[in-house]
Amino acid sequence: MHVVIVGGGVIGLGIAWRSLVRGVRVTVVDPEPASKASRVAAGMLTPVTELGYGENALLRLGIASRDRYPSFVAELEDASGLDTAYRRDGVLQVALDSDDLAVLEELRRFQESLGIAAEALTGRECRRREPMLAPSARGGLFAPDDGSIDPRRLSAALLAAVDRLGGTLIRDRAAEVLVDRDRATGVRLAGGDALHADQVVLAAGPWSHELKGLPPDTVPPVRPVKGQVVRLRGTVPLLGHTVRGLVRGSSVYLVPRADGGLVIGATQEEMGYDTTVTAGGVWELLRDARELVPGVTELAFEEVTAGLRPGSPDNAPILGPSALPGLLLATGHFRNGVLLTPVTADAMAETLATAEPPEVIRPFTPGRFRH
Ligand code: GLY
Repeated sequence: MHVVIVGGGVIGLGIAWRSLVRGVRVTVVDPEPASKASRVAAGMLTPVTELGYGENALLRLGIASRDRYPSFVAELEDASGLDTAYRRDGVLQVALDSDDLAVLEELRRFQESLGIAAEALTGRECRRREPMLAPSARGGLFAPDDGSIDPRRLSAALLAAVDRLGGTLIRDRAAEVLVDRDRATGVRLAGGDALHADQVVLAAGPWSHELKGLPPDTVPPVRPVKGQVVRLRGTVPLLGHTVRGLVRGSSVYLVPRADGGLVIGATQEEMGYDTTVTAGGVWELLRDARELVPGVTELAFEEVTAGLRPGSPDNAPILGPSALPGLLLATGHFRNGVLLTPVTADAMAETLATAEPPEVIRPFTPGRFRH
């Protein structure tokens, strides 16, 4: 079997790698692999910390993926020979003032109602875990099984593993899906060549609906949601864990790397495909990060980037066979692309091999948006 995967971000590359492991022939098509959201993302693995109200099914999927990470990473690091900076050492959510604390307390009750244990901490207990936190921090929640990974390292490892297993990477844009007798049979590249395949996976993030030739009922309802992210650097890590803060009602997160890097994110803006870095976006991130952890201003400024999350109507991914036989979708991961990489990769590889989507992704089928 030959599978063409449109999109070489962590989702497309993850599916490619897990399919190659199953003995499937794979071609990934992307003009610039791992250059979009996979390059900008901070890499939080936080299904509990970032739980949204009403997103119970997404929480289950996120936990399933987070808990798959240790074996996924061990196998990937072995297959690629590269380190991914994966950590599962807990994530601290901190409230700066009493209103923020009330929001966190409500979240804790919601988590508890779903059977998820997050530990409530006083301000002093938060500072015991993270001494660099502002003295004014009022309290927090600790999610012991949440963590982080470096998405740039994850992408590099996936690219190396795909290459080592004989996957093909075509650095071109897939312009059109080829359809013959009501079945997807491959893609036409922007360069003009046709690439034939038994199955096509569309994993092009917020560009997934731009592929020409898609029948109307297979076009995924994705939209770009901009996020700006700042990268700073110290000689030693400023924080021991990922910290997510509520700072007078606005959210900010700080993801430390063992090498002294610190990633601060992220804005959430509905601006179409605009990826301009704005003074206001950077200012808000640094302002809130400094309120929470004053020492950030001592770090060296390294980089600021903006990327596009693939938003979907219910904030959950769109996974599995589409209405067009031979075409599968793996897109719409919104804020959770890195978190959901292992579960997406394994479930899609299984679907490609068996034609049967596993139980874990069934609530997320493309058909849920058809009326
Ligand atoms: N999950 C973090 C973000 O999308 O900003």
